[in-house]
Amino acid sequence: MTDLASDAKIDFAQVELSYEGFRSLARNPHLSVHGRIGFPDSYRESHEPNIFADIRAKLPALDARQKRILDIGPGCANLPRMLMALCEEQGHELRLIDSPEMLSQLPDAGHVRKHEGAFPGCMARAGIADVQFDAILCYSVLHYMFIETNLFSVVDATVRALAPGGRALFGDIPNLSKRRRFFASEAGHAYHKAYTGKDEAPEVQIFEDATGRIDDSVLLAMMQRAQQAGCDAYLVPQSRDLPMANRRDDLIIGKP
Ligand SMILES: C[S@@+](CC[C@H](N)C(=O)[O-])C[C@H]1O[C@@H](n2cnc3c(N)ncnc32)[C@H](O)[C@@H]1O
Repeated sequence: MTDLASDAKIDFAQVELSYEGFRSLARNPHLSVHGRIGFPDSYRESHEPNIFADIRAKLPALDARQKRILDIGPGCANLPRMLMALCEEQGHELRLIDSPEMLSQLPDAGHVRKHEGAFPGCMARAGIADVQFDAILCYSVLHYMFIETNLFSVVDATVRALAPGGRALFGDIPNLSKRRRFFASEAGHAYHKAYTGKDEAPEVQIFEDATGRIDDSVLLAMMQRAQQAGCDAYLVPQSRDLPMANRRDDLIIGKP
């Protein structure tokens, strides 16, 4: 049985992570900052600058001046540190929502306010249910919320939290349908062969059990929920240079 808070080596492909699980990981003294947010170092270490560039391209408010920014689930690795630095340069106010174990590992700064708890329930408890943001970032978090939280409540709270003209990015979402499309393609076969070193095609099941996994149906329903509430919604690709671009999607919700 894996002990997330103390095992020196963790096989992230074999553990199911949750908000509580991340609290344990964050306390594990043996892990790097990437391990504490559930990634093997190779998935993140040299990729963060490219990931951050992709986020900036999708959230133009980050490069404007004196905006209000929210990061839901920033974790404790380098993306939130890059975001904090950019927000300081641009004169933004930045709010962070995550567990106390994650937030305490990020530096404090005058332009940053930390709110402990899980989104969306924490918004009212933190007294920020009526605050509106020009940009909301929620990167590599939605698939954990899918297990524990009603995603329509996540969309509803996001729509409420967007200022007019504001934009939310739910980034780095593993999409089972996209993964299946990719591994059914020639490019997917070549990728699988290179990864496994074996001359065999990946197994692709049409009616695979999708329990606990996000697929097109979930993403399209989220988009429709946002559209019904007066927002625009788009499913967009990740920059091709990101490590999981062939099987992950980004969802943008924008308030006109
Ligand atoms: C995979 S990490 C991603 C961290 C960061 N966004 C990044 O990409 O570097 C997921 C983070 O989401 C947080 N998290 C999970 N569920 C959450 C929720 N409902 N509200 C806020 N944070 C949540 C976890 O504590 C963890 O820090």
